[in-house]
Amino acid sequence: MRVCVIGTGYVGLVTGVCLAHIGHEVICVDNNEEKVKLMQSGQSPIFEPGLSELMQGVIQAGRIHFTTDLAAGVNHGEILFIAVGTPPMPTGESDTRYVEAVARGIGAHLNSGYKVIVNKSTVPIGSGDWVRMLVLDGVAERQQATVTPGGSTTIETQIDFDVVSNPEFLREGCAVYDTFNPDRIVLGSNNPKAIAMMKELYAPIVSREFAEDKSLPTVPVVVTDLSSAEMVKYASNAFLATKISFINEVANICDRVGADVTQVAKGIGLDSRIGSKFLQAGIGWGGSCFPKDVSALIHTADDYGYEAQLLKAAVTVNQRQRMIALEKLQQVLKILKGKTVGLLGLTFKPDTDDMRDAPALDLIEQLHRLGTKVKAYDPLVAQSGMRHGLSNVLVETDAERLADGCDALVLVTDWQQFRTLDYAKMAKLMNHPVMIDGRNFLDQAALEAVGFRYVGIGRCG
Ligand SMILES: NC(=O)c1ccc[n+]([C@@H]2O[C@H](COP(=O)([O-])OP(=O)(O)OC[C@H]3O[C@@H](n4cnc5c(N)ncnc54)[C@H](O)[C@@H]3O)[C@@H](O)[C@H]2O)c1
Repeated sequence: MRVCVIGTGYVGLVTGVCLAHIGHEVICVDNNEEKVKLMQSGQSPIFEPGLSELMQGVIQAGRIHFTTDLAAGVNHGEILFIAVGTPPMPTGESDTRYVEAVARGIGAHLNSGYKVIVNKSTVPIGSGDWVRMLVLDGVAERQQATVTPGGSTTIETQIDFDVVSNPEFLREGCAVYDTFNPDRIVLGSNNPKAIAMMKELYAPIVSREFAEDKSLPTVPVVVTDLSSAEMVKYASNAFLATKISFINEVANICDRVGADVTQVAKGIGLDSRIGSKFLQAGIGWGGSCFPKDVSALIHTADDYGYEAQLLKAAVTVNQRQRMIALEKLQQVLKILKGKTVGLLGLTFKPDTDDMRDAPALDLIEQLHRLGTKVKAYDPLVAQSGMRHGLSNVLVETDAERLADGCDALVLVTDWQQFRTLDYAKMAKLMNHPVMIDGRNFLDQAALEAVGFRYVGIGRCG
């Protein structure tokens, strides 16, 4: 099928490349010229495991093209994905101006022939109808612009389209895997014709043709109305964020009563009604999705006269949790002024270069406020040099340089390679070999054996 993906960030680029890989003809449109040039030269502007290799393959096969020309993309696609960002505004609402610009732009270039316009961006509930209205506005603006001085319209295009909500559930760090191995595909629309086209598009994924385990049953496709599909996305992220806040709250109580949250999490996670995922206590959730999606849902509830108390509490617990490493540093080192703290990891989770709303940023800000010198080592951020607003941090190129002269280390991101660092050597390079394990990720006994004072989260320390 002919597909156009508008917006080539973490979601759009992965979607475009994966759809091309399963055999579709894809044009990816982005208004960032630099990004488009990079992609045209075969390079991915983001880091996602497996993405670059897949991208090279589909470029060579001629099944994907990158452009800034929206008109070309709209003309090409039978299915047009909107995958632009919907970042949070200070009020907690989603900033939908990029979606608005794209929807109007699609309308301005829509030609004859039936098209399905897919909201892949996470958009506030009700956005499906809003996008439809904007597309029609775009069409009307174009038609007005082409009315001749005599008053006759020169464009008489038959506009025929439907809007589908197809929320994205991929996780950064395993986005390609998630695209080929989804737990479910959600399609929201009132028109069976649009749903049929979407099912055809995803058929190879639904039948697990590209899955790691091809013996699994087919991927469930959940067909809903537009608003319910939009709500599925928000409710999923709100549930996961609340689950993390729950275990963090349990961890804080464990710290006080002398229990170990890792053992508690194992004990409760084996209950099949609960499950073990998202029960790892730590320094709180962050990233480009959870914070903004939970805030947006709280805001939507508010708009409709409902106070989402549970979600607000999940946010409050998370804000406090982000300071837990600071509290533990103060307990061990007492005065932080004039001390040097090294952060192991900066990104909000491993295997991504995304720093949006990463807990590390709050920690850095507070350490600075208290007069602490902050150093950091992150496998990806080190490669890309100083960026992401990290001018107040000395970014080191390896873990041993990081440890050199530090009064404590804080493990912020659970990168796999941090399990096997030479901690004995690092301990010797430090002023005080203290490890605040912000993800309960490291081997406490092994660290203590090489001289570290180890402090976990919710582990009585
Ligand atoms: N990142 C995730 O893990 C994830 C997961 C699920 C859903 N989502 C949702 O998907 C959407 C996209 O997220 P993302 O992380 O990929 O965003 P992103 O910021 O990485 O990418 C957005 C892209 O859109 C481009 N863009 C902006 N305005 C444009 C325009 N008018 N025309 C063409 N391109 C334009 C930008 O240049 C950028 O490349 C958001 O709504 C997000 O909430 C993200």
